[in-house]
Amino acid sequence: MDVALVVDRLRAAGCVFAEDEAELLVAEAASPGRLEDLVRRRVAGEPLEHLVGWTAFDGLRIAVGAGVFVPRRRTELLVREAAALIRPGAVVVDLCCGSGAVGAALLARQPGIDLHAADVDPVAVRCARGNLPGVPVHEGDLFAALPADLRGRVDVLAANVPYVPTTALALMPPEARDHEPRTALDGGDDGLAVARRVIDGAPEWLAPGGSLLFEAGTAQLPAAVAALTAAGLRPRVVADDERGATVVVGGRGSRLDG
Ligand SMILES: C[S@@+](CC[C@H](N)C(=O)[O-])C[C@H]1O[C@@H](n2cnc3c(N)ncnc32)[C@H](O)[C@@H]1O
Repeated sequence: MDVALVVDRLRAAGCVFAEDEAELLVAEAASPGRLEDLVRRRVAGEPLEHLVGWTAFDGLRIAVGAGVFVPRRRTELLVREAAALIRPGAVVVDLCCGSGAVGAALLARQPGIDLHAADVDPVAVRCARGNLPGVPVHEGDLFAALPADLRGRVDVLAANVPYVPTTALALMPPEARDHEPRTALDGGDDGLAVARRVIDGAPEWLAPGGSLLFEAGTAQLPAAVAALTAAGLRPRVVADDERGATVVVGGRGSRLDG
């Protein structure tokens, strides 16, 4: 099958970037049979990233297999904001790590950090271990997964939690709805159920002067800011309209704050 035919089939199936996708699928397929299989699955709605096995994120190539959340380009804002807070030797945690994309990007920007990653989903943990060689990737529910000696020592806690309100899951594109795990998307009634648990636990794990960062939707900002304030963390919101991204930062006071 030649590239033009692949483009036609992808375009007919509604793929917006049919040319780019066709190129990637052709490059990935080692035989005509394999290409036919990939095109058929793509037309049926499987995410391109799951089919080719990787995605580009913050200038890196991140492996992402079936059943793992595909890192979104908007999350590069969270990486940028977290990286700005990191000093050499900092203890950094990528909580809810999925493929480990956020941690990998932070490590690439600041190779001197002491990075840990964690996720509740064993499929994600396996994927993150591949993307983060040499980094401890823990499996378990939020902070329960982390080694106890990190308590009170985390300088940057980057947590790209699931934040889609349960009722909005049905409105997501089928690529996400049907091929990404519900645990990676579902943020409960108002989308902040997991974020609230992270906010509540953060003060115990953050070092003095440390920061928690997570993404949120615009409608969730007042509640997210209120939850941070209630937990004793100083809230700050960073938005990037071009990326369609909003990052919420909660800072723990330093020892000098009194
Ligand atoms: C939106 S995805 C983000 C993945 C990755 N950080 C990224 O940006 O590509 C959310 C991730 O949170 C994980 N997760 C959901 N609930 C969790 C929990 N209670 N404890 C740990 N991880 C959880 C999911 O398995 C999923 O990998």
